[in-house]
Amino acid sequence: MTANPVSVNSNACLISPEIGKSYIAPAHPPLKLGVLASGSGSNFEVIARAIQNQELNAKIPVLIYNNPEAKAAARAEKYGIPSILLNHRDCKSREELDTKIVKTFQEYDVEWVVMAGWMRIVTKVLLDAFPDRVINIHPSLLPSFPGIRAVEQALAAKVKITGCTVHIARLEVDSGPILMQAAVPVLPDDTAETLHARIQVQEHKIMLGAIALIAESNRKYCD
Ligand code: GAR
Repeated sequence: MTANPVSVNSNACLISPEIGKSYIAPAHPPLKLGVLASGSGSNFEVIARAIQNQELNAKIPVLIYNNPEAKAAARAEKYGIPSILLNHRDCKSREELDTKIVKTFQEYDVEWVVMAGWMRIVTKVLLDAFPDRVINIHPSLLPSFPGIRAVEQALAAKVKITGCTVHIARLEVDSGPILMQAAVPVLPDDTAETLHARIQVQEHKIMLGAIALIAESNRKYCD
């Protein structure tokens, strides 16, 4: 009898995100994360809360958002994190926006960049300033369904399983070495909204898991 592919546990993780919860005592300086967000900022808030609860040895010196409507800014205020609006509409090119981002992150002494729902294509300007130190979260099991409307792409392709990915960012959109993924089954009556909501539950786990992995490897290899 063949296994039913839909019978995957909805919490199935290809790599356990539980690592984020096993964090114990900070013997090392916290990882300084500069966060980029364009929208709701739920991934940003999950990181901020984990730091506040001492589940992650990190801090967020600054949040940058590009859209004046982004709810992420209000979330930053709740956690006492400075937030700066760098509106892409005020820039003549992607490079100009990234130059402003780099300057701001350098002013705040940022070590790693987290694209937490950052809906702009990044350029060499940002990636060269933080080599191998920019991570991105995407709502699909990359390399499937890169680019915009990943959840809708998965529904249109009628896949039975999709999920989310945290990876090191490269120039090509949604490409680069994968740090962590979680699988999410697609249910027969799923809409983009219901599926995205279940994907986001997993995103919040792998986001913390990936940052915990980075903090741990920093501690081991960068002393
Ligand atoms: C997340 O689902 C994230 O994966 C997606 O935007 C959402 C932001 O949610 N990012 C991309 O599609 C980037 N290619 P949030 O603002 O609640 O964190």
